[in-house]
Amino acid sequence: MDDEKELDDVLKEAIKEAEEAENSRVLYEKKMRFLGRMGIVMNFMKRMKDVPPEKRPSFGKKVNAIRDRLEEAFAAFEERLKKRELENKIAEENVDVTMPGKRRKAGALHPVSLVKAELIDIFAGMGFEIFEGPEIETDYYNFTALNTPEDHPARDMQDTFYLNDKFLLRTQTSAGQIRLMEKKSPPIKMLSPGRVFRSDDDATHSPMFHQMEGLVVDEHITLCDLKGMLDEFARVMFSETSKTRLRPSYFPFTEPSVEVDVSCAACGGKGCSLCKGTGWIEVLGAGMVNRRVLENCGIDPDRYTGFAFGMGVERIAMLKYGINNIKLLTENDVRFLGQFKEEN
Ligand code: PHE
Repeated sequence: MDDEKELDDVLKEAIKEAEEAENSRVLYEKKMRFLGRMGIVMNFMKRMKDVPPEKRPSFGKKVNAIRDRLEEAFAAFEERLKKRELENKIAEENVDVTMPGKRRKAGALHPVSLVKAELIDIFAGMGFEIFEGPEIETDYYNFTALNTPEDHPARDMQDTFYLNDKFLLRTQTSAGQIRLMEKKSPPIKMLSPGRVFRSDDDATHSPMFHQMEGLVVDEHITLCDLKGMLDEFARVMFSETSKTRLRPSYFPFTEPSVEVDVSCAACGGKGCSLCKGTGWIEVLGAGMVNRRVLENCGIDPDRYTGFAFGMGVERIAMLKYGINNIKLLTENDVRFLGQFKEEN
């Protein structure tokens, strides 16, 4: 067949194919088939050597002309397709800004976490440092060093979960006091939040609960310092008019020991069902650090004195929010927990 006629057919075929390409990717493949380095048009160039010498100039011109036409044609088709594709994309991605938004449900902090954070905030503001002891303790830190030797009747005050002869689940964050005083010399001002465990289970007791322990040791620390700090704590935690009172009590690691009551915020101290008509609510245990405890940690009790206090975080949360059963705090019912959500 005549080479030039063949070239005209290639041109027609290529343009027809380009017209039929449904998208720019297919168009590109077709373009490569005709104009690529191994493409049909290139093949004609390679055939030049077989063309009789006198026909070569006109053959060469024709191949070049066809290549130019095809390149133009493909470029035009490509532009058209790309434009169409862009328009489709814009149409698809069109956002209706008048549609109502999808509201994401946000969780809320647990009341125990809320109270814990608030307590840390209050005491950190007074200069207390946070110290966290381990939940698995030895008998020594949980009892012996806290002036509670074996066979001491006070060990019966708390029902302990023993893991083996040596280890137990701490029954009180007071264990952390010893660990800190062994490491640090006065002045000491520490706050120790954490979980504690006791074999105890009713409407106001749970086998696992949280305590917040405080310890201050320095020269000239007295019970008045404890009282002043507690008054400030009650005022911020419960109400502007809250007061505290101390009642004599007993803990092996404090002497004297006190039970701290806060005036009932529900009735302002007049007496109601929450405070059982007394006007006062017991919130924590405290006292002056027993000199034997200081001695156990290598601190000179003739030079230094200190006070300690320990409170149940669940108990504070129950008082603050009027929760009547401690189980509500561990059941994780969202209808209960959702009530502590701060609206945003
Ligand atoms: N550890 C005591 C308890 O769990 C509370 C307490 C702490 C009392 C510090 C006095 C001083 O009951």
